Amino acid sequence: MILFCQSFRSYPIVLHSITGARFVLKNVQANPHTANHVWREKYSLIGIGLCLVYIFLYTACGGDDPTKSSNRKVEAFSLIVEQHTLPDDLAKDNTLTVNSIEGLGTLIGVKSGLYILNGKKFNILDQEQPTVGIEAWKSKYLVIARPKFLQVYDGSIHRLNVNEEFSQTEKEEDKTITSIAVQKEAELWVGTKNQLWLIVGNDVAGFNQFGHVEHLSTFLGAEDLLVKEQGGSFKSIRAAAASGYDLRDFSKSELSLTQLVPSFGGKLWGVAAEGLYEWRKEEDKSAWWAYQLVTEEGQDAAKVEYIAQSSLDGTLWVVTKDKIFQIGLESARYAERPKELKTIISASASYTGDLWLNDGTSLFHITVNKSGPITYKDHVKPFFDKNCLRCHGDVGPGRPINSYELTKTYIQDSIKAIENESMPADKKPLVGGDISLLKKWVEEGLKP
Ligand code: HEC
Repeated sequence: MILFCQSFRSYPIVLHSITGARFVLKNVQANPHTANHVWREKYSLIGIGLCLVYIFLYTACGGDDPTKSSNRKVEAFSLIVEQHTLPDDLAKDNTLTVNSIEGLGTLIGVKSGLYILNGKKFNILDQEQPTVGIEAWKSKYLVIARPKFLQVYDGSIHRLNVNEEFSQTEKEEDKTITSIAVQKEAELWVGTKNQLWLIVGNDVAGFNQFGHVEHLSTFLGAEDLLVKEQGGSFKSIRAAAASGYDLRDFSKSELSLTQLVPSFGGKLWGVAAEGLYEWRKEEDKSAWWAYQLVTEEGQDAAKVEYIAQSSLDGTLWVVTKDKIFQIGLESARYAERPKELKTIISASASYTGDLWLNDGTSLFHITVNKSGPITYKDHVKPFFDKNCLRCHGDVGPGRPINSYELTKTYIQDSIKAIENESMPADKKPLVGGDISLLKKWVEEGLKP
C-alpha cells in the first residue's frame, strides 16, 4: 500500500545571525509525571478499507531526573515590520489566519470569507463561507478550508474533488471542517467536528479515535500531527512502522497546555501558563522541560503570548510581552517586539517563513531582515546605552561617547578596551551584544 510508505522529507534550515548578543536559553525540567500507561487499540481506515492497524496510545508522562538543564545562545537579529490597518469587516476577528507562497500572493482567511492582500489593500476573493484554514500544498498551491468544502488556490480558486466526503451530513456525523494541516507533500489532514481525516489522492481515511477536532498543527517533515480537540485537550498522532500510528494523549499531562506544536526530531513545543515548554526524551524518558528565555540582566524574557510555526520547516516564532524570538533547528534569535503591537488575538507563520500578528486593529507582517546592515541607531547605540553610558555620558567619569560622531571616533579604542577587558571599567558583563557587533559595524562601514 503506497499510502503509508511515503518517503520522509526534511528541509535544511539556513540561519542568518547578525550579532552575538548574550541571551541564554536555559532548560529546566518541570514537574515530571511518573505515571506511564501504555495500551493498544485497534482501529480501521474508513474509506480505504484495506487494513486494520495497531496504534499505541499512551498518556504524556515524564521522566524523573530534575537535575538536567542545558544552555543555548540566542543571537539578536533584525526584523522588518509592516503594519496593515484592518478594514472594519476584518477587525477584532480572532480566527484571522494568513498564509502565502512565493509568487502566489498572501491570502487572509476570516469569519467573513477569504481575502487577498494587494499592497496595502484587502481585496475580497470569496465570501461564501468562513475560512477555517489556509495551508501550502505541494509547494505551489494554497489549500483553503471552509466549513463545507475545500478549495485550491493557484491564482484562481477551484474546489477540491474530495468534497462529497465533507458535504454530506448524516444524522450523527457532523463533518463540518474545522482545520487542515500538511505534513507530507501529497497528503492533507482534515479535522472535522466528528473526527480526523487524511486525504491522499482520491482516498479519504478516517480516524475515529478523535472526536471534535478544533485545530491541527504540524509542518512538512514533522514526525507528529498535533490535534487539539474540543474542550482544549491535545493528542498527537505519528506514523509508525507497519502501517500503524502512534497516538499520544496529553489530556492527563500536568501542564495546562494552551498551544502544542511539533518540534524537530520528534520533540514538541508547548505553551502553558505563559511559559514555553519542550517535550523531549532524555535517557529513554520523555518529559516536559521548561524552556526559559533568560537575559543576562537576569530577566526571564519569556512571558509567552503566542507561538506560531512555519509549515515549511518547523521554525518556531515565540512572541513574548517584549520580544520576538525565532527558534530554528540549530539556533535561536531574538528582536524587540514592535511598540505599536497591542495584545495579539491571532498569529500565523506563513509557508514563506514570515510571521503575521493580528492585534484586532492591525495586521503586522514581520520578516527577517537578512541583508540588514548593523547601524548605529538600531544596534550600536543600544549597546553603548546599556554597557558604557553609565560612565561615558555627558557627565563622566569617562569621556563622552554618546553620539554617532563620538562613537565613530572612539570605536577602535573601544574595541581594544573591550578586548583587553579594561572596559567596562566596573567589569559588569556585557548585555545586548558583544565585541562582534562592534567589529561587524566597522566592517560594514560604520552606518549611522
Ligand atoms: C564604570 C565606568 C565605566 C564604564 C561602565 C565604561 N567605562 Fe570606559 N572608561 C571609564 C573611565 C573612568 C575611563 C578613563 C577616562 C577616559 O579616558 O575617558 C574610561 C576610558 C575609556 C576609553 C578611553 C581609552 C582607554 O581604553 O582607556 C574608552 C575607549 C572606553 N573607556 C570605552 C568604553 C566602552 C566601549 C565601554 C562600554 C563597553 C566603557 N568604556 C564602559 C569608565 C567606564
